[in-house]
Amino acid sequence: MPGPPTDELLDLAARLAGEAAALLVGTKGRRLSSIATKTSDTDMVTEMDRAAEQLIVEGLRAARPGDAILGEEGTADEGTTGVRWVVDPLDGTTNYLYGFPAFSVSIAAEVDGRSEVGVVVDPVHSETFAAVRGHGATSNGHPIRCTASARLATALIGTGFSYETGRRSRQAEVLTSVLPAVRDIRRAGAASVDLCWVACGRLDGFYEKGLQPWDFAAGALIAAEAGATTGDLHGGRPSTDCAMAAAPALFEPLRQLLVAAGA
Ligand code: IPD
Ligand code: CA
Repeated sequence: MPGPPTDELLDLAARLAGEAAALLVGTKGRRLSSIATKTSDTDMVTEMDRAAEQLIVEGLRAARPGDAILGEEGTADEGTTGVRWVVDPLDGTTNYLYGFPAFSVSIAAEVDGRSEVGVVVDPVHSETFAAVRGHGATSNGHPIRCTASARLATALIGTGFSYETGRRSRQAEVLTSVLPAVRDIRRAGAASVDLCWVACGRLDGFYEKGLQPWDFAAGALIAAEAGATTGDLHGGRPSTDCAMAAAPALFEPLRQLLVAAGA
């Protein structure tokens, strides 16, 4: 059975991500930024995470009743259509609270378990990244490509750290092997944005262990459609164990470095 038209899914994702992004950076957003902690003292959630998720979920339910929805702030609608929306209403919550300019709204549409459409809106830089599987990736409507980087020694690599203390320690240990082997490391604080920055060549590669599906569902598709190789550490798709994206010739050396480092 043919799936739903991907251009329809893309238009809906782009509209709702844009509306949620406007909510986040509007004056109301700043006023409502009361903070609660989630999984640990470092894992914060604001009223704005919840308000942005509500806006997106209401829009999805209205436009496409019957689709499944998974949202970071608790939405878990089961569906009947084969389409599942994977929503991070505010990726980079810590950055948002500090006014550090790297956060996004991320929406992916999966069909039968695979991302077919991805949209990441970075409102601070007025950038909308988008991709439809098989049709390339764009930033504000212009096609984007990853770099042609092939050498670890000259590669700029993004990564991120879990909120969980034990995992953070292990991530720091892995970094002691990675940092001397690459040009430098960046930790921007929003995985969806990191993946889009691989897609448009601001990073040569990215890896992070322990992400959730909403952190990478849209960004990994955008990176792949921009020519990057994406995956986990062991030949699978990007996963909650490890999500990687890198210029094609860099992916395997980076993967081997991470495995050797005990990632
Ligand atoms: C976090 C960001 C961060 C990554 C964390 C994520 P949140 O998402 O993407 O860059 O390192 O692993 O949990 O909590 O800001 O939506
Ligand atoms: Ca997130």
